[in-house]
Amino acid sequence: MSPKQIASSAPGKVILFGEHAVVYGRAAIAAPVAQVRATATVEPAPAGSGLTIIASDLSRSIRLAAAPDDDPLAVAARLTLTYLSAIEPDGTLTLSSTIPIASGMGSGAAVSTALVRGLAGFLGHALEAAEVSEIVFEVEKIHHGTPSGIDNSVVAYEQPVYFVRGRAVERLAVGRSFTLLIADTGAPSPTGKIVAQVRRAWQREPARCDVLFDQIGDVANEARRAIENGDIDALGPLMDDNHELLIELGVSSPRLDDLVEAARFAGALGAKLSGAGKGGNAIALVEDDAAGEATEELKEAGAVRIIRATVKRDV
Ligand code: PMV
Repeated sequence: MSPKQIASSAPGKVILFGEHAVVYGRAAIAAPVAQVRATATVEPAPAGSGLTIIASDLSRSIRLAAAPDDDPLAVAARLTLTYLSAIEPDGTLTLSSTIPIASGMGSGAAVSTALVRGLAGFLGHALEAAEVSEIVFEVEKIHHGTPSGIDNSVVAYEQPVYFVRGRAVERLAVGRSFTLLIADTGAPSPTGKIVAQVRRAWQREPARCDVLFDQIGDVANEARRAIENGDIDALGPLMDDNHELLIELGVSSPRLDDLVEAARFAGALGAKLSGAGKGGNAIALVEDDAAGEATEELKEAGAVRIIRATVKRDV
């Protein structure tokens, strides 16, 4: 059977509650953001040419056979082939993405997910979300050392998730839809560096950091109940609480705090940084009729891009 062209894609994501503490075993919640996506297309190539991976946004092209051991794209492809006990096919795999890079929106996990699904599909295999997630988790380790696993989970399942490291991923039931504005500071959020900084803080002051992690985990657990019960009014203050705890952990920044303040000033129910922090995105929970004003305020406060996303109620 000769392989046909295959296309696959994966969404961006935001962490709603629990970033950083999730690395230390506390609960966290994340949701996919479908408006921004990574895509992979795989086409047959002449016999003997092997697999070429083209990252069109990065103007990069690599031949799998010649790629270094630690190249994340090559690692994703090799892990997929090993998992499927398949030999390298003759093909061209082209990746592109509309997910902002280094902004806490899961760009790396989404690109890997699209790649793994695309390559598996090209070889005639439809992998389960859990299988894709596990392969992408291994790739995430190259990107940032000690990932909790939440990014690969929410992106591969493309569902809101309740996540505790080392436990099976739980799909989160959403009792009532809610709207988020995702506002980009324009400053990068280098996940690995910030995660390492938090680790140093934890090594210096374990008792203080553990208390903060516990408090963040408690907020995430309360938020889970609020989301499941459709109690959106309770969710805003929990986002505010989570943001304060992240400030205490040392991962916010003046730009993030400005966006959070601006969103609250414009009537958001709550706001916080999302992802590793220091830069990247703030997220604000808004009533639909307040979204326009909050968008304007966020722009005035320096947001370089605003994405409006709805976390949909289960039907
Ligand atoms: O990729 P980001 O920036 O969304 O950060 C991931 C969230 C962290 O909790 C900071 C790290 C992790 O592995 O969970």
